[in-house]
Amino acid sequence: MILVTGGAGYIGSHVCMALLDAGLDVVALDNLSNSNQASLQRVQSLCGRSLVFRHADIRNEEAIYDILRACGVSAVIHLAGLKAVGDSSVRPMTYYENNVLGTMRLISAMRKAHVKTLVFSSSATVYGVPTYLPLDEQHPLGPTNPYGRTKLFIEEMLKDLYRSDDEWRLGILRYFNPVGAHESGLIGEDPVGVPNNLVPFVAQVAIGKQEKLKICGNDYDTPDGTGIRDYIHVVDLASGHLSVLSHLKQPGVLTLNLGTGNGNSVLEVIRTFEAVSGRPIPYEIGERRAGDVAICYADPTLAGETLGWQSTRSLAQMCADHWRWQLNNPCGYRGT
Ligand code: NAD
Ligand code: UD1
Repeated sequence: MILVTGGAGYIGSHVCMALLDAGLDVVALDNLSNSNQASLQRVQSLCGRSLVFRHADIRNEEAIYDILRACGVSAVIHLAGLKAVGDSSVRPMTYYENNVLGTMRLISAMRKAHVKTLVFSSSATVYGVPTYLPLDEQHPLGPTNPYGRTKLFIEEMLKDLYRSDDEWRLGILRYFNPVGAHESGLIGEDPVGVPNNLVPFVAQVAIGKQEKLKICGNDYDTPDGTGIRDYIHVVDLASGHLSVLSHLKQPGVLTLNLGTGNGNSVLEVIRTFEAVSGRPIPYEIGERRAGDVAICYADPTLAGETLGWQSTRSLAQMCADHWRWQLNNPCGYRGT
């Protein structure tokens, strides 16, 4: 039985789907602070298998311990956390409490229950401003915001945990920019309020919920002047979790980038989305967004060599699947 914390969320629901599809049993835990349980109902009807849902908070050590024991959990995929970069500068202590303290409590419950396999969702944001590209796992770390620092501190904590007890099997996955949705159009990203991230915002412009996109700067040192990122299909990302789980048979700490290795500019994303949706994406050029870097993309070689994993879905497929989800669910899960 695999425990997925944050299982009702955007990435979590796709990870639960991948695990169930692979025949594994799943208990999904979530406090539903940024998600809707309907995502998991849809996951179950999509793959024709059921999972166990527990409405709980990772900061509640006793509750986690009870779930680990009662469900016979053998490994944990830990996705629960707060993730809004701007908000993390406004409420840093909330982020440290939820992400860092929450992970400490989770680990403590796992130690008591003798569950010593953990896959943690880190982020490319731990690299900060790139000093070279593509970003490999050896690149110096230096996040530039509290959210990123919670990820870095947890990574360091996990490494210390292994140094103190070499029975742990730990996977640290640094995601680049997850976008897209399951090809069914039944599960996807359901942002609360105005989306901060590019693709969810573009999708809302396409459907008419937002009037136009503001491009955050077109004076970067890139071919078209707009920022370049490594967008990765969420279904490819989810399959990376499955690969790492089957690889964590030996104790150790495995740190891997999950990205495509390709960079695409804001304008390329807009054009691709227009092409797959057949809708115009009006935009205006605005100021650069504080904390943004010009270019960020992964060197995913290590994940390829270690796991035999690589992303397979194109930017067009990411946009097409994101669009199908947006079109079928204009109000996200709130309409269900
Ligand atoms: P999400 O908000 O959709 O999912 C996170 C889930 O965790 C939500 O369902 C939320 O309700 C739950 N949660 C939050 N705090 C909790 C707590 N204390 N106890 C129990 N549940 C809690 O976000 P997502 O995009 O699916 O991200 C999942 C993980 O991946 C996060 O840790 C995030 O930091 C990381 N990540 C995301 C991205 C991205 O672009 N989406 C990039 C890099 C890393
Ligand atoms: C952001 C976070 C990062 C997090 C990631 C996924 C910041 C500084 N970084 O990454 O820590 O891991 O989201 O959640 O917030 N853009 C526009 N207009 C918009 C929105 C974005 O032009 O309305 C541009 C940005 O300037 C950037 C690109 O689109 O060049 C991608 O932005 P976004 O989707 O927010 O991802 P990141 O900034 O890479």
